[in-house]
Amino acid sequence: MGKGLISVRDLNKEEIILLRSLFEDFKRGRKESLEGHCAFLFLESSTRTRLSFEKACNLLNLRSYYLGPKESSIEKGESFGDTLKTLQALGFRVVIFRVPFVLFPYQQYLEEPISLINAGDGTHQHPTQGLIDLFTALEAYGKVEGLKVLFVGDILHSRVFRSSAYLFKLFGARLGVCGPKTLIPLDLSPFDVDMVFDDLDSAIEWADLCIWLRLQEERFKEQFIPSKESYFLQFGLTKERHERLKGYFMHPGPVNVYVDIESQILYSDKSLVLRQVENGVYVRMAVLYWVLTNG
Ligand code: CP
Repeated sequence: MGKGLISVRDLNKEEIILLRSLFEDFKRGRKESLEGHCAFLFLESSTRTRLSFEKACNLLNLRSYYLGPKESSIEKGESFGDTLKTLQALGFRVVIFRVPFVLFPYQQYLEEPISLINAGDGTHQHPTQGLIDLFTALEAYGKVEGLKVLFVGDILHSRVFRSSAYLFKLFGARLGVCGPKTLIPLDLSPFDVDMVFDDLDSAIEWADLCIWLRLQEERFKEQFIPSKESYFLQFGLTKERHERLKGYFMHPGPVNVYVDIESQILYSDKSLVLRQVENGVYVRMAVLYWVLTNG
């Protein structure tokens, strides 16, 4: 049975602390050679997740092989499970996958003697992005216990929210969400959210750290907002709101400028957006190393 990472809910605190220590070591330049072959099964597009995983593989001496959207035999009807068996028969040690569907339940896949790493499945989980967000906040603030962390935007469709919010809460943060009522899940109980705002200006006053999320129109099954222009006016990070931020802001990317955030402030001194991207390589090295060596 291969060890894997499909959901952050399968990680305990000790494992996350170990992953953070590996992340810090790799960021400081630790060298390791794992050897072996790693398959990328990406049925959705990606810039930062794909390239940071590829770079992480290279730095760990793992050879990577990429199958992009519309390139695998899943297009011809082969199931995800049979695809994993095929990749295993081809001799791969690890499969890093990004898929448009929710992989749940997934325990059956972890029975396979191959390691699985989730790079984003539908609206379910994006565990390495969650770790990036937590570790980047820990770098910037020292600790997140008691930190008021506000998620803004399309909470309903966000797999990043489902991973990041869980991790922040596990480490003692207070959670707030703000967005159109249509884009906030009816049941927030799995996330133990402390505050729900429909007014962004009050939410910003409350928050120590704000995390904007992308409006995921590709997942919209109906019209959730009247227009992108009105959404930006109500929930976007404008220059004026940026002045009033008490702390940093983050965004997992990709950013839709003038929908999520005004372009001139995207890389301001309050922005951790590029730090999140940079940290992605070291988080993914840590996860690959942990999965393949048991820490
Ligand atoms: N944050 C994130 O998953 O970005 P990509 O879609 O570019 O990989």
